[in-house]
Amino acid sequence: EIKDVAIRKIFTGRGDLTVEVEVATEDFVAKAAAPAGASRGANEVVYFPEEGIDAAIAAFERLVAPEVVGLDVSEPYVVDGKLEEVDGTARFERIGGAVAIATSFASAEAGAASLGLPLFSFIGGAYARRLPLPLGNVIGGGKHSRGLGPDIQEFLAIPLNPPDIFTAIYTNVEIHKRALKGILKVDASFTGGKNDEGAWTPRISSRTALRILKETAEEVGKEVGVEVGIGVDVAASSLWNGERYVYKNEGVERGPREQLEFIAKLIEEFDLVYVEDPFHEEDFQSFAELTDRFRDRLIVGDDLFVTNPDRIRHGGRLKAATGVIIKPDQIGTLLRAHTAVSTAREYGLKIVVSHRSGDTEYKTLAHVAVGFGAEVIKTGIMGGERTAKLNELIRIGEYLGRWGNISRIR
Ligand code: PGA
Ligand code: ZN
Repeated sequence: EIKDVAIRKIFTGRGDLTVEVEVATEDFVAKAAAPAGASRGANEVVYFPEEGIDAAIAAFERLVAPEVVGLDVSEPYVVDGKLEEVDGTARFERIGGAVAIATSFASAEAGAASLGLPLFSFIGGAYARRLPLPLGNVIGGGKHSRGLGPDIQEFLAIPLNPPDIFTAIYTNVEIHKRALKGILKVDASFTGGKNDEGAWTPRISSRTALRILKETAEEVGKEVGVEVGIGVDVAASSLWNGERYVYKNEGVERGPREQLEFIAKLIEEFDLVYVEDPFHEEDFQSFAELTDRFRDRLIVGDDLFVTNPDRIRHGGRLKAATGVIIKPDQIGTLLRAHTAVSTAREYGLKIVVSHRSGDTEYKTLAHVAVGFGAEVIKTGIMGGERTAKLNELIRIGEYLGRWGNISRIR
């Protein structure tokens, strides 16, 4: 039973303000924080109420705190249901999504502690024993690099057949470290700048970034004995001006048709296994066309779906993707994210549980990924807020021991 709750302002790794919520029961105090995105989808829940973080904190004190004290946290999602009730809007306009998700996470943490379970078991039950493949950005551009890198936001690596989670993470770390050599070969003036998610930010074209990534991934993969796939998050809504995709640094503009051909060409040329948000967030049709041509790849919607069950159902019916990004903060509660996952599964979509570009030292996401049975976790490679989740996966793998196994996407 919840005895008390508290809230405070803290910072993300990018220096954005966010909220941390504490949930106290008789025996434990559990804490959690909300991450904060930069390339946010237009259809996400409201992050803070219109008046900002102080209004979010006031709403927590006034609307949430009095209502959740006394609730039984050992029963999953009871607090999440109460959050729906006290806010009363689909987009959490009164309390804000940040307060909602931090409260939801902290309540789940408290519930897990009250039952003596790890959080992933509390979320996923006894069958949650599968570890996700780590997908992480090696080179980055777009908004996360403040326009200083390539136009495509993320160039990603993913080990496809690692024997265990430790080897999987090691493979990504090694690729990240070694990519610097490849970058310096094409741009000797690069000074080693990294972006919000710890990816290298050289001033090179998207094609050059893919070439370097592919070479490095092959080299490291061979050494480690693991097959490595590469991919991109185009974050195309950030490029879209309403009519065309504007690749500013590369000095190119592409209409919707050209964009489709450009992406298809990249997939073939670099054998991409993963493509996220190749089109803007309302273009379900182009997603469906690309997916039809590349059924065997992970074609994933992030801003397209915003972890929203209705949008996932719409996309599922249109066969607009083969995978879905799940960012619990996009939709506001673990309960809603859980519904999003079940909906995605109805359409045979793979699950990619994801961090935000402004994230914190919290490890919650590692447990969410295992609890939801995600095939993939997208949580970067370098930087404290990224390694917090990756290191936790190593611990979860050790905890599961021979009962655990690691996912495959092909
Ligand atoms: P974010 O974007 O900056 O909104 O977290 C990350 C992503 O596009 O995957
Ligand atoms: Zn994305």
